[in-house]
Amino acid sequence: MKKLHVKCSVFVFCFCAAHPFNHLIDTLQTEKNKAKKYFNPQKLGDPKYERLPFSIRVLLEAAIRKCDGFYVKQEDVQNILNWEKLQNEAEIPFSPARVLLQDFTGIPALVDLAAMRDAVAKNGIDPNLINPKCPTDLIVDHSLQIDFSKLVGFMALLLHAPRQETALKNQEMELIRNKERLQFFKWCSKAFKNVSVVPPDIGSVHQVNLEYLSRVVQESEGFVFPDSVVGTDSHTTMINGLGILGWGVGGIESEAVMLGQPVSLTLPQVVGCKLVGSISTLATSIDIVLGITKHLRQAGISGKFVEFFGPGVSQLSAADRTTIANMCPEYNATVSFFPVDETTLKHFKQTSKDKLEVMESYLKAVKLFRSSDDQAEDPHYSEVIEVNLNSIMPSVSGPKRPQDRVPVTCMKEDFLSCLNEKVGFKGFHIPREKQGILVPFQHEGTEYTLSHGSVVIAAVISCTNNCNPSVMLTAGLLAKKAKEAGLTVKPYIRTSLAPGSGMVTHYLNASGVLPYLSQLGFEVIGYGCATCVGNTAPLPESVVDAIKEGDLVACGVLSGSRHFEGRLCDCVRANYLASPPLVVAYAIAGTVGIDFEKEPLGLNAEGKEVFLKDVWPSKEEVQDVEEHTVVASIFRALRSRIQKGSPFWNNMDVPDSVLFPWDPKSTYIRCPPFFSKLVKVSVPGSIDNAHALLFLGNKVTTDHISPAGSIARISAAAKYLQSKRLTPREFNSYGARRGNDAVMTRGTFASIKLQNRLIGKTGPKTLHVPSGQMLDVFEAAERYQRDGFPLIILAGKEYGSGSSRDWAAKGPYLLGVRAVIAESFEKMHKNHLVGMGIAPLQFLPGQNADSLELSGKERFSISLPEELTPQQELTVLTSTGKSFSVVTLFENEMDVAFYRHGGLLKYVARSMLQ
Ligand SMILES: *[C@@H]1O[C@H](CO)[C@@H](O)[C@H](O)[C@H]1NC(C)=O
Ligand SMILES: *[C@@H]1O[C@H](CO)[C@@H](O)[C@H](O)[C@H]1NC(C)=O
Ligand SMILES: *[C@@H]1O[C@H](CO)[C@@H](O)[C@H](O)[C@H]1NC(C)=O
Repeated sequence: MKKLHVKCSVFVFCFCAAHPFNHLIDTLQTEKNKAKKYFNPQKLGDPKYERLPFSIRVLLEAAIRKCDGFYVKQEDVQNILNWEKLQNEAEIPFSPARVLLQDFTGIPALVDLAAMRDAVAKNGIDPNLINPKCPTDLIVDHSLQIDFSKLVGFMALLLHAPRQETALKNQEMELIRNKERLQFFKWCSKAFKNVSVVPPDIGSVHQVNLEYLSRVVQESEGFVFPDSVVGTDSHTTMINGLGILGWGVGGIESEAVMLGQPVSLTLPQVVGCKLVGSISTLATSIDIVLGITKHLRQAGISGKFVEFFGPGVSQLSAADRTTIANMCPEYNATVSFFPVDETTLKHFKQTSKDKLEVMESYLKAVKLFRSSDDQAEDPHYSEVIEVNLNSIMPSVSGPKRPQDRVPVTCMKEDFLSCLNEKVGFKGFHIPREKQGILVPFQHEGTEYTLSHGSVVIAAVISCTNNCNPSVMLTAGLLAKKAKEAGLTVKPYIRTSLAPGSGMVTHYLNASGVLPYLSQLGFEVIGYGCATCVGNTAPLPESVVDAIKEGDLVACGVLSGSRHFEGRLCDCVRANYLASPPLVVAYAIAGTVGIDFEKEPLGLNAEGKEVFLKDVWPSKEEVQDVEEHTVVASIFRALRSRIQKGSPFWNNMDVPDSVLFPWDPKSTYIRCPPFFSKLVKVSVPGSIDNAHALLFLGNKVTTDHISPAGSIARISAAAKYLQSKRLTPREFNSYGARRGNDAVMTRGTFASIKLQNRLIGKTGPKTLHVPSGQMLDVFEAAERYQRDGFPLIILAGKEYGSGSSRDWAAKGPYLLGVRAVIAESFEKMHKNHLVGMGIAPLQFLPGQNADSLELSGKERFSISLPEELTPQQELTVLTSTGKSFSVVTLFENEMDVAFYRHGGLLKYVARSMLQ
């Protein structure tokens, strides 16, 4: 009998939990690994699948796997499958595989989860059950990194040097406060499942994401599926270069994803960018990236997905792809996606060998792996733009301004014409008869000659080029081949090498090219951009004299960033920006007046001519060295740093507790009151007798609403911090205090640009109607709350426009705002309001506060029906006897549920209690 009962309940459980797409589950058999399951969208039996862009297939798989009838419905799966018809129309959910946070924006989300643990524990539920519902990586790289290195320095100072009184004292205070946040992060990494923290001083978010966290294929609970990510970092889009769909989101979206809610987006249009033709030999990765970016910028693809295809794709290395993907903000695409192919696999061989077999067979099984040469695999796109890689001309710029681009093939011709032209950006006006002058001079006992166009300074600098090592490697390999071919650089030329970081030196050395660079005179002179300005050492006097004697236009060639760094030296009149390998080439040639196609770079020891094409490394050579030495060595170094941690981080004490031990004295981390009075069921009833906290006009942005920038000395937040015995010097910014709701709530509507019609002037104040007093918005809200008045906000058109700010919805919620009545809302902000349990209510078309003759001083009652439905008309009654209608802007039952529960946070907490 007992047995039967158990069976029954199991059956009932399974029945309830049956996944609507069970029939799509397949099993992956691989040699080494245990069988793994996956959802195979091809089993839908719909021919449309193979026509979908690869990026849309990723969205589809996620919708299938996450289909639960609440957050994701079967209809959503159908809509994505019908992408060709419904693109740009249907709203769809997307549940990324993981979330990427950086410390600054990540703090509020983790503080909320810690608070949720307290709340469920108070209700007798095991707080261990509260964890992010998807893997969350937090990388401490922003604000705290600098402070952290200061801290390490400070600790060292304490050990080795006597104290230096007050200056140190202040520093100590500041550092101890940062320690609070670091300790919180470390506690999170121990207490929560699905949270990992990369400690400070390891690497930047995007580097760690690219090199360490990316998996292409994720695995959870026996299922494999494509990796995808949303991150609170603007470089998140880089990851699309590796076939991993992902983009940047605001703090509140990332928090919602951690709580299990999908991101909502309009089914995107996908522009296919077809790469054809082959890349000119002399073009470097930087030329390619800038060239493709220029095409995309002209194409106008704002808000769309871009997906690359065509035979040219295989010519781009993984690093080229991530760099192109990183440029998304320049052309406003949401993502620039490169489906996984052989190149991607080769890249991952260096970083995650063990998973490769599963990765490849899974992606092939669901048609997420592609060969860009096979046209039959090309999906349908919303539109196609074609970029011919032939059209990407390697070029240099100069002789005076960075915007004066000169194709390398025309360099000689262009320089000669500059000699003729009258003095200007492109002219030196050298009389014709003097253009061929040769000036002999002695240098270290040998005679040389200088002429117009002679190179006297050649500087290889890696500033912005860092992220794409192939460019520096090309220079290194060129130096190696040139040296081996017997070429040299004339000793009077001031040559130098300034790698952007120690990492660049490391991989140049690891790949064996550093000695060749230094044999040609390109010795490491130091790090950082300060060296971009050149001028490391003065030119030899004999060279200066020769230039003066012949009134020569001598040249400097340097590989700076896109910005011209000013003149290198008074007597050097022509300065060109060129890629690092071209700097090496021009140094060897000794002149910019050379046509590389027709003229040799120089003669070897046997007097034989050596051309540039003889010593220029092929793309394959460079990519090979890059994958083997650079990627592998960067990855190894990073992994060992992450595994080792740092002594400070490792030695930092954090409690092993399940609940976070909030420090009541902390002014950075506080338990937010989102869960106060959490009971099992809650149905926010009608809104009775609400006061209008604010009466606003059109286009109130999230910058007006949310706390931002520094904390004004005269403000509610300042009063609070002073009550905690902080001096204004110690206030720090609102950004740094995101983990303290008390500061953030006081900073809500504290913008000096706020225009509130209740006070008739600009400023962060409002009228407390019952007393007639003018108060800080926070103080008025506090009084209303104390006296039991709910609050609403009256607003005009486009309420909440501007970029996504997490506290723009959290702040008003904590001020006691229950509804915003506006003429229209910015969509994203409206979603945030719903997520925080604030009702977005819209005036009927044609109506607004003025047409209804509202003063903002009346009280408002809004009765809600038992059965609240999306887009419902409600009646608002005012204390002056007026009545008007508004429409709820809830889009679905999910929105209604969030409102009923007082927001997503309470919704999730309460689902634990039930
Ligand atoms: C961690 O995330 C996975 C999704 O990858 C989820 O299935 C699992 O339930 C989460 N773990 C916990 C303890 O919440
Ligand atoms: C990108 O969007 C911004 C703001 O929406 C706009 O100002 C800019 O012109 C857009 N750029 C392109 C290339 O579409
Ligand atoms: C280059 O590597 C060699 C051997 O691995 C090492 O001895 C040398 O110090 C390195 N040089 C630089 C500049 O890093």
